[in-house]
Amino acid sequence: MKIGILTGGGDCPGLNPTIRGFVLKALDYGFEVWGIREGWKGLVKGIVEEKPLTVDRVEEIISWGGTMLRSSRTNPYKDPAQLAAVKENIQKFGFDCIVALGGEDTLGVASKLWKDGIPTVGVPKTMDNDLSETDYTFGFDTAVSVDVEAVDRLRDTARSHSRVIVLEVMGRHAGWVALHTGIAGGADWITLPEVPLDYEAMCNHLKVSYARKGYGIVVASEGTELPDLDESEAKLDAFGHVILSDRNVGETIASEIEKRTGFETRSAVTGHIQRGGPPTAFDRVLASRLGIRAAQAVYEKDFGKMVAVRGTDVVTVDIEKAVGVLRTVPLDLYETAKTLFSK
Ligand code: F6P
Repeated sequence: MKIGILTGGGDCPGLNPTIRGFVLKALDYGFEVWGIREGWKGLVKGIVEEKPLTVDRVEEIISWGGTMLRSSRTNPYKDPAQLAAVKENIQKFGFDCIVALGGEDTLGVASKLWKDGIPTVGVPKTMDNDLSETDYTFGFDTAVSVDVEAVDRLRDTARSHSRVIVLEVMGRHAGWVALHTGIAGGADWITLPEVPLDYEAMCNHLKVSYARKGYGIVVASEGTELPDLDESEAKLDAFGHVILSDRNVGETIASEIEKRTGFETRSAVTGHIQRGGPPTAFDRVLASRLGIRAAQAVYEKDFGKMVAVRGTDVVTVDIEKAVGVLRTVPLDLYETAKTLFSK
């Protein structure tokens, strides 16, 4: 069996450990695994590594962030010529199966290719943790750890200067990163895309907690819906998503807090720092298990599937189901988190 493996979409820590787990298990089965460069772009352009992946190539990558195969946000289904090139190249290289590590967009392409008759297996990856059908995606734990460290640092300076500081974090249209960062960082308020932004409630709360301790910390998800924001001219990526960092959520919320409360307020953005660096131990283990399970799925010819975490088990589910609906934060979980906002 000759397998092509690729990583698409925004990178996140855990991609390399997944590749490692996959290759080590695939070699046990006697498979040949070829690295495709830069996600679906590699199949559009026919760019594949010169040699199959070996133990030597993957053994040390457990601790590496990023992706050794590089990534892109290329969507071949946007252009019939690109799609034709993908199909031709799969034939030309003689791949029996494509293993795609990605989020909603990359796996959406894997799902469509499977419907077009090409065997695919998906592995869920995204720091946003917003894929359905899996309890967790790797990259999330590492991103939250980076953000919690940022909150700890911001708290020191916020306290010293008697300021409110708003930290804007990624997560796209799901608030998981903000929610977990806010809980673990002990924030005074958290804003999420799932919950209408209530400036009055937030500022009233901050006034109370500021009166007691003299500073404040807010964690804001980049996808928070801002009243009066005109997005008609917003820039879109290849999959049609608005580039959320352009919305300046943290800065906007900070200036509104300052206006309404009179507290000196600053904002900070962790941005792509959340996506780099060594994966946490949790993400390394999760990614390794998913990589191994993906190789087993190929061995069992369990195609059109995504490997997924269910409780403590790793299972396979239909890719199509996983990419159909975003997994967002349930409102009751947000209500629980509010109990922890400092009084
Ligand atoms: O989907 C992962 C993610 O990091 C989102 O949280 C964020 O909105 C987006 O990617 C940023 O994309 P880019 O790397 O293209 O700026």
